[in-house]
Amino acid sequence: MSNTNALGIWSSKWAFILATTGAAVGLGNIWKFPYIAGENGGGAFVLIYLICILFIGIPLMIAEVMIGRRGRQNPDMAMRNVALGSNKSIQWRWVGALTIISSVLILSYYSVIAGWALDYVFLSFAGYFKGANKEQVDLIFNQLIESPWQLSFWHTVVIGTTVLVVSLGIEKGLERTVKYIFPAMLGLLLVIVGYSLDTGFFGHGLTFLFKPNFDKISAQGVLSAVGHAFFTLSLATGSIMMYGAYLPREVSIPKTTLFIAAADTLIALVAGLAIFPIVFAHGLEPGAGPGLIFQTLPLAFGHMPYGDLFASIFFLMLVFAAFTSAISLLEPSVAWLIEYFGASRKKAALIAGTTIWILGFGSVFSFNIGKNVHFLGLNFFEFVDVLTANYMLPVGGLLIAVFTAWKMNREYSYYEFNIESRVVFRTWIYALGILCPFAIAIIFLNIIGMLKI
Ligand code: PHE
Repeated sequence: MSNTNALGIWSSKWAFILATTGAAVGLGNIWKFPYIAGENGGGAFVLIYLICILFIGIPLMIAEVMIGRRGRQNPDMAMRNVALGSNKSIQWRWVGALTIISSVLILSYYSVIAGWALDYVFLSFAGYFKGANKEQVDLIFNQLIESPWQLSFWHTVVIGTTVLVVSLGIEKGLERTVKYIFPAMLGLLLVIVGYSLDTGFFGHGLTFLFKPNFDKISAQGVLSAVGHAFFTLSLATGSIMMYGAYLPREVSIPKTTLFIAAADTLIALVAGLAIFPIVFAHGLEPGAGPGLIFQTLPLAFGHMPYGDLFASIFFLMLVFAAFTSAISLLEPSVAWLIEYFGASRKKAALIAGTTIWILGFGSVFSFNIGKNVHFLGLNFFEFVDVLTANYMLPVGGLLIAVFTAWKMNREYSYYEFNIESRVVFRTWIYALGILCPFAIAIIFLNIIGMLKI
């Protein structure tokens, strides 16, 4: 086991579980899940997303942690190490490289959205949402995203802090943040669910989220559900592989993975239950887009006793959740710079952070001065989001699945899987080696019109 990896080794199983849950739970659960579920008609999307978590996401997460723990380096070199050890081509390293590129692209816009949440901490605290109606809440949101200066400022704060924490080494801070913030966040989401129960529209929200209506979902919608399963579990971005690289030998990968995936899914579903009744009660559009939570939650908080306080605490927790994900998104490229070029951790964090910061301005401007600049019909933010979540992550995930099932030495994987039962092990291999590639291939063929389902 090498001690030269960038972070060392997690101090315990819980350190890994907390950090990885921190990577998984973030804006994806609370900001993205409700808005893309809303855009894609609700129930059918949610069902496909849940199926993907179960049959593709969890098996793949196990595979990534395993490759990380075997390879013990950044995703590029970890893939190379495991391929070498299995007597396979070292070109598999390019899959690792692809995941690192995805992490860089995602973080570039992720930090912009985390910046919105950060701004909302202050707006809530200052009482802007007290008793506010829909028009006022919309106005506040639009004023924020239409200001390139404000967005640039918050984007800089988020990237700057992430760089700082990553350059100092991250374990202690992550552990503590996740341990306290998560139960608290779940608690506050439940408070909003309580408010939603009171709106008289809870049933509408429930039906919207859980009654599948397949007429409402397109081939692109199916792809978004698959892509979101990857995004929300932080798969194919190097993050999980990277955290696996710091995992002590004796920890059971399947068990810890199940726990993390369950926690992640629970938070997303509770967020959906909190938000959609408010959407319907106020006559809002479920498909309102990326502003959805910023235009709904303030309405709920604005009408609650101590709403200002609750709202600022809620957005602060969202910022923390985003922050633990941002850290995991920065780590793969930083570890790569350290291990490839022998850079110091500080220098590596600075170089990776600056690159991502610059890239992020594309997203900053896509909400204001650059909103009419389109690539393939999408603005810059949408383009990066769709490119990564809908294409790079599923393709990366498919390759990792194939690699683990068909190329990685079975002795390795059986040993790492560390569950006696051959049946469970085989089921996992089949899920990865057959189900996952077929499902993803069919979805892509459908998108490019070579197959019509
Ligand atoms: N899973 C995180 C979320 O749901 C986002 C993320 C994606 C983090 C990829 C790391 C890697 O917010």
